Amino acid sequence: MKTIFSGIQPSGILTLGNYLGAMKHFVPLQEEFNCFYCIVDQHAITVPQDPAVLRENIRRLAALYLAVGLDPEKVTLFIQSEVPAHAKLGWIMLCTSYLGELERMTQFKDKSDGRGESIPGGLLAYPPLMAADILLYDTDFVPVGEDQKQHLELTRDLATRFNNRYSEVFKIPEIRLPETGARIMSLQDGTKKMSKSDSNVGGFISMLDDPDTITKKIKRAQTDSDSAVRYDKAEKPAVSNLMTIYSLCSGKSLEEIASMYEGKGYGAFKGDLAEVVVETLRPIQDRYNQLIQTSELDDILTKGAEKASVTANKVLHRVEKAMGMARLG
Ligand code: AMP
Ligand code: TRP
Repeated sequence: MKTIFSGIQPSGILTLGNYLGAMKHFVPLQEEFNCFYCIVDQHAITVPQDPAVLRENIRRLAALYLAVGLDPEKVTLFIQSEVPAHAKLGWIMLCTSYLGELERMTQFKDKSDGRGESIPGGLLAYPPLMAADILLYDTDFVPVGEDQKQHLELTRDLATRFNNRYSEVFKIPEIRLPETGARIMSLQDGTKKMSKSDSNVGGFISMLDDPDTITKKIKRAQTDSDSAVRYDKAEKPAVSNLMTIYSLCSGKSLEEIASMYEGKGYGAFKGDLAEVVVETLRPIQDRYNQLIQTSELDDILTKGAEKASVTANKVLHRVEKAMGMARLG
């Protein structure tokens, strides 16, 4: 069975972008692959986090993973910091990296922009840690949104560089982008990705937003100059983004949606879109509300960490041995 690995940061409540671009695709994969899904808290602390908020966000993310339909009997769900092999291999991958390539990462540039001298070192070390996450499980495929493409390419480069320097230790992983929805944009700016850390809460729909909030955010969403519901990413980025969301939540094609709203304008379209999004999130929110109160969640995470450690420690040992370390093992 081939292996899948993916991770999400517990840095806020997940958005509809996270769901349509990543989480939704995790679910069918569990039937076919050996899946590891990780709550990457060590990536979240690359920028300062409030301890109580981080603790809460980790738990909420775990509940959301399960609420979308992941079955803990089929997948390994765990917290990154509970499997110490990630930090150890992260260091080795950092030592395999060059400063120049790390500084060229667009996520690093975006997140360090405006911080002057006070750029956290962790932001630079972020991609080598992500490489470690993936490589520790002999991963074949990594399902992520398009924003992670550059990090995946770096992962492949680092693994290849390591293999050439020592021996064929790492399997080279492949990215798995969703066909559509790889990049859901902000509701307030059709050229910026929808992000849970957006300071403008009108820009994103949280997976836990109530129906009223969702409806308000969609009604206020940016549209383009004319009033036609037509897919045209270059000329009409805002409406095209809303149509993509409609299509992914309803299963209807973009052409179908365009013909449904021909001559009807944005009002009717937005009203229906709000309903479609509310109905998509409703069953997830119901399951989430049940799960978040149970201790079942903790048991699943404890078992997940134990199971992940078995594979991760084996691969780490192989790596350290190839480098001339691992005397005790
Ligand atoms: P993050 O929230 O940065 O931890 O991202 C978790 C996953 O969601 C990654 O696979 C991202 O590629 C994906 N993702 C985040 N934002 C979006 C978005 N706006 N559209 C599509 N996928 C996204
Ligand atoms: N960098 C990813 C993001 O922001 C999260 C992540 C960390 C990840 N480690 C990973 C994704 C390993 C896939 C595989 O979305």
